[in-house]
Amino acid sequence: MKPLHILFLLIIAIQNVANFTNAKMHHHSPKKHKHSRKLSHAPAPAPTYPPSIPSDPSYGPTQPDTDTNTTCIFDVTEFGACGDGSTDDTEAFRAAWKAACQVENAVVLAPSGLEFMIISTIFSGPCQPGLVFQIDGVVMPPDGPECWPEKDSHQQWLVFYRLDDMTLTGTGTIEGNGQKWWDLPCKPHKGPNGSTLPGPCDSPALIRFFMSSNLVVTGLRIQNSPKFHMKFDGCEGVLIDKLSISSPKLSPNTDGIHIENTKAVGIYNSVIANGDDCISIGPGCSDVDIEAVTCGPSHGISIGSLGVHNSRACVSNITVRNAFIRDSDNGLRIKTWQGGTGSVSNIFFENIQMENVRNCVLIDQYYCLTKECRNETSAVYLTDVTYRNIKGTYDVRSPPIHFACSDSIACTNITMSEVELLPYEGVLVDDPFCWNAYGVQETLTIPPIDCLLDGMPQTLAENSLYGC
Ligand SMILES: *[C@@H]1O[C@H](CO)[C@@H](O)[C@H](O)[C@H]1NC(C)=O
Ligand SMILES: *[C@@H]1O[C@H](CO)[C@@H](O)[C@H](O)[C@H]1NC(C)=O
Ligand SMILES: *[C@@H]1O[C@H](CO)[C@@H](O)[C@H](O)[C@H]1NC(C)=O
Ligand SMILES: *[C@@H]1O[C@H](CO)[C@@H](O)[C@H](O)[C@H]1NC(C)=O
Ligand SMILES: *[C@@H]1O[C@H](CO)[C@@H](O)[C@H](O)[C@H]1NC(C)=O
Repeated sequence: MKPLHILFLLIIAIQNVANFTNAKMHHHSPKKHKHSRKLSHAPAPAPTYPPSIPSDPSYGPTQPDTDTNTTCIFDVTEFGACGDGSTDDTEAFRAAWKAACQVENAVVLAPSGLEFMIISTIFSGPCQPGLVFQIDGVVMPPDGPECWPEKDSHQQWLVFYRLDDMTLTGTGTIEGNGQKWWDLPCKPHKGPNGSTLPGPCDSPALIRFFMSSNLVVTGLRIQNSPKFHMKFDGCEGVLIDKLSISSPKLSPNTDGIHIENTKAVGIYNSVIANGDDCISIGPGCSDVDIEAVTCGPSHGISIGSLGVHNSRACVSNITVRNAFIRDSDNGLRIKTWQGGTGSVSNIFFENIQMENVRNCVLIDQYYCLTKECRNETSAVYLTDVTYRNIKGTYDVRSPPIHFACSDSIACTNITMSEVELLPYEGVLVDDPFCWNAYGVQETLTIPPIDCLLDGMPQTLAENSLYGC
């Protein structure tokens, strides 16, 4: 399937989900809509370009529920939640979840006007299909590590596990109360006199979806996470739309959306500002479509890091289109460790606007956190990476284009077309850089790069180490 087809099908899926959600609120419909299943059965019409972005204003389960009372709503306040912002409401959420889980198309509701404090919880399935977790009020964890129950996981706060066909939505906010985690003395430069103290420094990811399928996450504001805001691991069929994610520029490790071992993902119409990667794509991801996302401040959109500890990583069919990246440490980054295997292939970055971005276009196959990494003879093989219509301004402290490919395994088939980047202010200090990078420029790149190698390398990464 071509990426455009995948995009189109995902849009169909969004519309189905929208209809589904509406239907659900108005009629107790037993219909099941599994959007990834739809993906494979929908006809493949000619894709239009540029594709329309789903923007049906009637979309969303939060519109007034006008005609019926047939939706089964499990309001956490009816299960004893108090919503005063300090009482521990965990048991009420667990009870509401447990009851809703048994009923098709049920809604767990955290109503507006209230603030619910709950401790680390795993909401697990399997549940009846069509379950909606609707947050119209504020839901938040305890305020910092000192209030975190000792026995609770310090890795994660809310976990959705073993679910199929589930929606997380609402007009409300998931407030992460991250400040005290960011200020721990083990965080970079937060120790005495700007030092970084050693020691375990676990901080919880705010929302984690694990081993689940056919998920929809829409509408919510998610902010101030202690660590990653959202993490998807071992999932298939994920639709993210109209999210607002924000944390301060200097909050450590607060990636916006992180996915790994996850397939068939659409991320649309979302605004992300944080202190780390806006979106990060880890090993085992394929068919990921990102469109109409605004990042910044952030560390940009990142594939990787991949291949750590000589691991094998496979990432393919990733499209990022119509994105705006501003005030960020990186723009479009692919980072791999030396010594890995596997490959990154079929990557499309198209129509990306940059503003004051460092390292706008970056391939780093020497990723290393300690400066003490050994030189290795294998690498994750990068091939078929396209940069098309990438325009805007860069921070002159680093060259806007940097392709540091592995010494032993060259990057191949990098296509550059209409890549035009100008200094945000000042003048370029270092020229664009390439090392062992093969590819073509369809149009003249600005600033000019003359280091991209023609054709293909003499020894190709064709052995089984690099296939996926
Ligand atoms: C990636 O897309 C190609 C066609 O564009 C398809 O043949 C291949 O199966 C896809 N790979 C994965 C892992 O989905
Ligand atoms: C709502 O519930 C009432 C009583 O529970 C019922 O009489 C009425 O028909 C319901 N409304 C709809 C539209 O189903
Ligand atoms: C921090 O630096 C100041 C001035 O250099 C010094 O007097 C003080 O002892 C230092 N504190 C710690 C905890 O290292
Ligand atoms: C790795 O290789 C580079 C380039 O050949 C060399 O400059 C560097 O010293 C090597 N590093 C180690 C740790 O051997
Ligand atoms: C290079 O990459 C482009 C875009 O992914 C693809 O269409 C083309 O077939 C590739 N060329 C070769 C020689 O593999």
